[in-house]
Amino acid sequence: MSDPLVSLRGVRKSYEHEGKMLDVLRGIDLDIHPGEMVCIVGPSGAGKSTLLHIIGTLDLPSAGTVRLDGQLVTALSSTKVSALRNRAIGFVFQFHHLLPEFTAVENVMMPGMIQGSETRAVLRGRAEKLLDEVGLAHRRSHRPSELSGGEQQRVALARALALSPKLLLADEPSGNLDTDNSQQVHTLFHELNARHGVTMVLVTHNPELARSIPRVITMRDGNVATDEQRAAG
Ligand SMILES: Nc1ncnc2c1ncn2[C@@H]1O[C@H](COP(=O)(O)OP(=O)(O)OP(=O)(O)O)[C@@H](O)[C@H]1O
Ligand SMILES: [Mg+2]
Repeated sequence: MSDPLVSLRGVRKSYEHEGKMLDVLRGIDLDIHPGEMVCIVGPSGAGKSTLLHIIGTLDLPSAGTVRLDGQLVTALSSTKVSALRNRAIGFVFQFHHLLPEFTAVENVMMPGMIQGSETRAVLRGRAEKLLDEVGLAHRRSHRPSELSGGEQQRVALARALALSPKLLLADEPSGNLDTDNSQQVHTLFHELNARHGVTMVLVTHNPELARSIPRVITMRDGNVATDEQRAAG
């Protein structure tokens, strides 16, 4: 089997709150392999977002180790962690965080503009292709306020893929959408996983999305309660 893309060992996260320690993650061991599609479910407060942030190097554990793409994140300088994050990870959140003053295509170009290693023309070409893939070829020049909620989330998905990440992380990506728009976004995740081979970790409260994903991790009270692999329906 290939080396894991993500590997967590003994990951703990605690916060001090009003003089007491609050253990939010209580020792997580987890391997995620290239190309996998993984779903994290569990009750509110179980530690799902905290775990996703640690996998995404947005936060560090209080104890334990995190490896990403062969690098020991918990031993790197913050500059190196940022470089690794920008190169390897795309994020989609419940609220899309698109820049309101820019068009759809400009929003998708933005990560590349910030990185600054390619010309505008190359970035525009790639952004247009990604918008085609998420079904928004006809909405390229719309600003976020001129797009529906589902369309905004699909732009956010295209933007997350702009730098061809190995890992896509999504926290309740359809939490803010109605049934139809949720379904479109869910279908897209599957298509993009199949087409680009991008590894995905999705946190969701949506039972339909969870059912469609081959590996489902259930968290409870800061622990992995179950980790089930099955044929996807
Ligand atoms: N900065 C913090 N300081 C103290 N406690 C925190 C902090 N961040 C999170 N927590 C606590 O950690 C627990 C887990 O939070 P987390 O956001 O990971 O839950 P979750 O499983 O994503 O829940 P939800 O489904 O509601 O999004 C919660 O009880 C929360 O109150
Ligand atoms: Mg959460």
